Amino acid sequence: MPSTRPRVLSGIQPTAGSFHLGNYLGAVRQWVALQESHDAFYMVVDLHAITVPQDPAELRANTRLAAAQLLAAGLDPERCTLFVQSHVPEHAQLAWIMNCLAGFGEASRMTQFKDKSAKQGAGNATVGLFTYPILQVADILLYQANEVPVGEDQRQHIELTRDLADRFNGRFGETFTVPAPYILKETAKIYDLQDPSIKMSKSASTPKGLINLLDDPKTTAKKVKSAVTDTDTVIKYDTENKPGVSNLLSIYSTLTGKTIADLEAEYEGKMYGALKTDLAEVMVEFVTPFRTRTQQYLDDPETLDSLLAKGAEKARAVAAETLAAAYDRVGLLPAKH
Ligand code: TRP
Repeated sequence: MPSTRPRVLSGIQPTAGSFHLGNYLGAVRQWVALQESHDAFYMVVDLHAITVPQDPAELRANTRLAAAQLLAAGLDPERCTLFVQSHVPEHAQLAWIMNCLAGFGEASRMTQFKDKSAKQGAGNATVGLFTYPILQVADILLYQANEVPVGEDQRQHIELTRDLADRFNGRFGETFTVPAPYILKETAKIYDLQDPSIKMSKSASTPKGLINLLDDPKTTAKKVKSAVTDTDTVIKYDTENKPGVSNLLSIYSTLTGKTIADLEAEYEGKMYGALKTDLAEVMVEFVTPFRTRTQQYLDDPETLDSLLAKGAEKARAVAAETLAAAYDRVGLLPAKH
């Protein structure tokens, strides 16, 4: 029976091995919640991962690893559609049509391309990196998604998606749902443990600032205990003056469901050490079963691959229908069967 729930769609790149705490609290946790209220499609975007130089064996391993971690985090193949982007060829096919609709100037304004291409050195970036946002447009439009849960850094790509959907619909007739961004809440923003002025990311200031979910729990506990705090000793949420302690409080709050106010009351008069010791424990309790579940999926690649094959089949049923409509509207001559 077709779902009457609003549809969400999102993707994650298989570029890093382990998810970090920022990925998890900032995005993946919301994905898990949305599968209860929405018709949810989630994918590992391996085609996006090859827009920068990659190692083939690593890409393959990281694609399985990303899927295993999504399942370990609580995505349930019975409640959502989880798949690998390259298993659904319609993504590349619709991307071509969108490439032919997008303006060169419009694509040139994408700030993520500017940032990423600057890192590659002028002139070395691939055409694939340039057209990366257009592939993302295709990802979204193929599923007629109503909402796209992403971080603030993706807002411009969602705007582009809306523009291209409108343009296509205007030129060729109503074909695509125009999606709305669903910008994930700032409260879930997690900062580097060693430099709380920057977002936690895999290009962290030092490895000590980054919590990888698949790290040995002992390493994780150590990182929490050596997190940078502030010069006075009061445990108070104040992002301006006490960014280190505030970051620890928001991680603590998000992982336990306790409010910041409750935590402030609980730690009144206590030292930073007490907060860090308790948070380290909370973190270990969270990462230990996460690691175990991830490992169980990795130990049984056969089952994992079958889950992904089923996901791709479900995704393809939707994608193929949209692509056929788009091909027809554009005027491509159908092949005779
Ligand atoms: N570009 C997104 C990111 O870096 C990943 C992505 C690819 C995506 N396709 C998507 C996100 C479609 C949402 C919808 O985070």
